[in-house]
Amino acid sequence: MNNRDIQAAWRYHDETKHSYWSIRNNPHTLDWANRPQPFKIYPKLEPFPLPRDVPQTGVAALSAISEPVPSSRADSVPDLQDLARILYFSAGITKQRRSSGGEIYFRAAACTGALYEIELYVVTDVLAGLDAGVYHFNPADVSLCLLRKGDFRGNLAEATAREPAVAHAPATIICTGTYWRNAWKYQTRTYRHFGWDNGTLLANMLAVAAASGLPAEIVLGFVDAEVSRLLDLDTRREVSLCLVPIGRTSELSLPKPREAPVLHLETVPVSQRQVEYPAMLQMHDASSLESVEEVTQWRGKPPTLPSSGLAGEEVQLQRLPEEEQENDTIEQVILRRGSTRTFDRTASITLAQLSTILDCATRGLPADFLEPTASQLNNLYLIVHSVQGLKPGAYFFGREHNALELLKEGKFRAEAHHLGLEQELPADACVDIFFLADLKRILERYGNRGYRAVQLEAGTIGGRIYLAAYAVHLGATGLTFFDDDVISFFSPHARDKSAIFLLALGKPLKRKPQ
Ligand SMILES: Cc1cc2nc3c(=O)[nH]c(=O)nc-3n(C[C@H](O)[C@H](O)[C@H](O)COP(=O)(O)O)c2cc1C
Repeated sequence: MNNRDIQAAWRYHDETKHSYWSIRNNPHTLDWANRPQPFKIYPKLEPFPLPRDVPQTGVAALSAISEPVPSSRADSVPDLQDLARILYFSAGITKQRRSSGGEIYFRAAACTGALYEIELYVVTDVLAGLDAGVYHFNPADVSLCLLRKGDFRGNLAEATAREPAVAHAPATIICTGTYWRNAWKYQTRTYRHFGWDNGTLLANMLAVAAASGLPAEIVLGFVDAEVSRLLDLDTRREVSLCLVPIGRTSELSLPKPREAPVLHLETVPVSQRQVEYPAMLQMHDASSLESVEEVTQWRGKPPTLPSSGLAGEEVQLQRLPEEEQENDTIEQVILRRGSTRTFDRTASITLAQLSTILDCATRGLPADFLEPTASQLNNLYLIVHSVQGLKPGAYFFGREHNALELLKEGKFRAEAHHLGLEQELPADACVDIFFLADLKRILERYGNRGYRAVQLEAGTIGGRIYLAAYAVHLGATGLTFFDDDVISFFSPHARDKSAIFLLALGKPLKRKPQ
């Protein structure tokens, strides 16, 4: 299959839309006896424990989210403590709760169904406290397992067509997705969830790297088969999704790519039985890059997405003044974060809070598929229920103008309830933020891999919104949605766009003591 045959992405997208009827006609039920294991375990490998008492960065969450470290800065090499901090605050266990289905280990970043299908690996040179190697991170005991000994960074430089951030990075984290762990509940839609759940985790990773003084960026251009071989993945079950080079050295004495033979490492099965969903394997194959030449061509220029002028009534966004901003550190905010389970329908938030969250979350993402000043792939559309200083209604966020354009005025709690899969959360929130994208242009430019890019960007901005909301002591939750009804609701403005992601913001309902 070919990345340029973009019918593959359209087919997958159309076949995995939710509608009122698709939900009602789906006979799928959860097989609790076959519930997937939340961790990938290599039973024969000795874990290398990571330090747990790592010093806090002291950096305020809002700055960490929105001010990445420029990659042009002098050398910055992570040590073992930096690596431990970045891994733990991206994918570590932050809470534990018993439920009827068993113990749930909640993690640093939000994840659909708390199923945690994203795994992290590290390919590193020698760092202070760690030998060079290819490692797997296990959040269950905060440890690394050594899969290959030696410096394999040359393999990643080659696989990314010498992407500068990867070629200069002392260490690179690789994110993978394990199909069955999420498909157990969400079936074929899991390929979308890969982008969302990887994205929320990346928001944490980029913020904690920035707070640690280390440049980091998202790299999506790589030869899939080379990276998967390096990690010894069984690609019918687990696939590489993106790379995040961490830190920078000016020296360019990368080792040559090394042989990476099959390892046959034993892992504990995810479940007794797994169901394979061919549409996802096809979507992955069709969006894979097969050679270094294809990666070079793919990276090229971002699409020119027309920046929408604002036609209607406009409201200028105004951030919270510096002195009123919360100064909780990024680590404190990540530990506090958790998806809001009930919003207080009687509460409101301020325009300054909303402005601060939108501004922090949409400051340019460091990613090889975006230019810092170029448009985002996703546009944000809002349903405002109760924000002081804004009329209730539907809005378009004009990022370049730092303004909201009123599309239609009205009280739309009932509509939000419907659009968010008939859940109470989007109806009770203060604002619902929908991510919509012009898939046609994106796929024309990036091929099927544009589908991965747009989902990943949405998840990462969504993850930043989560963090910014908790930084200003509000609540948030990701949500899923009825695809085509979202587009109808925001049309004619949203005509020709596709629904990608949804997140609700508001004040968590405080339960009265019994
Ligand atoms: C993209 C995304 C979509 C989600 N969709 C829903 C949803 O439709 N309904 C819901 O109640 N929670 C939803 N959640 C919240 C997850 O259930 C929650 O993140 C997970 O249980 C982990 O809990 P935590 O976020 O509190 O750590 C979603 C989360 C994400 C990241």
